[in-house]
Amino acid sequence: MSDDSKRHEKILAAKVAVSMIDEAMVVGLGSGSTAAIAIELLGERVEQGLDIIGVATSKESARIAKHCGIRLSDLSHHPKVDLTIDGADRFDAQCRLIKGGGGALLHEKIVAFASKKLIIIADSSKRRDPLGGFPVPVEVVPMAVVPVKEYLDQLGYPSVLRVRDDGHTPKLTDEANVILDLKIDVVHDPEKLALQLQSIPGIVEHGLFLGMADMILFGEGDHVIEMTPS
Ligand code: A5P
Repeated sequence: MSDDSKRHEKILAAKVAVSMIDEAMVVGLGSGSTAAIAIELLGERVEQGLDIIGVATSKESARIAKHCGIRLSDLSHHPKVDLTIDGADRFDAQCRLIKGGGGALLHEKIVAFASKKLIIIADSSKRRDPLGGFPVPVEVVPMAVVPVKEYLDQLGYPSVLRVRDDGHTPKLTDEANVILDLKIDVVHDPEKLALQLQSIPGIVEHGLFLGMADMILFGEGDHVIEMTPS
């Protein structure tokens, strides 16, 4: 699938999601290229007079939102978010997600959890049944990265430390943690994997979003498909 086709599908999905935002809502602003399209479309609505407050899930999404004229707040001032629109790296038929390809999984999950409704927007290439085809990111406190990596190896989950473009400096998250990308082709039992990861001290969060998405909107050709958890 070409990048142009993917972008076309992302725009279609983002348009539908942004049309669901109403006056005076507190809106969670996701991260990544698909969420960025939604933020830009939301900025157009704000320019036309829509009054909303945005809560960003990353420094980058805050930067885009500010550029688009969206008023920003945070969870300290607005702990309840009405609607969050975010992207995903993979989703399955049960609306389970792998997120964190852009490294923003921790803030994304915190904002998603604070949201009354989480809408995921994507192109059709992100759909995988069973879930997989993308490394599962795990955010780790830097001092724990060696033992956590070794423990994950023992569990049968080899991982790679995410690095910057120079090929060796660890890429830091917005919370100055590091990311281990688990090399799992197919996540046969996402719930079991999530429990295993949650039980390891040093792991701050993982990129499996289970039971969180209320709706997935994905473009397919010139159409938008709506999926809700069964
Ligand atoms: C950011 O950390 C991610 O969770 C993104 O939401 C995800 O990687 C999707 O990004 P794209 O929309 O750029 O594919």
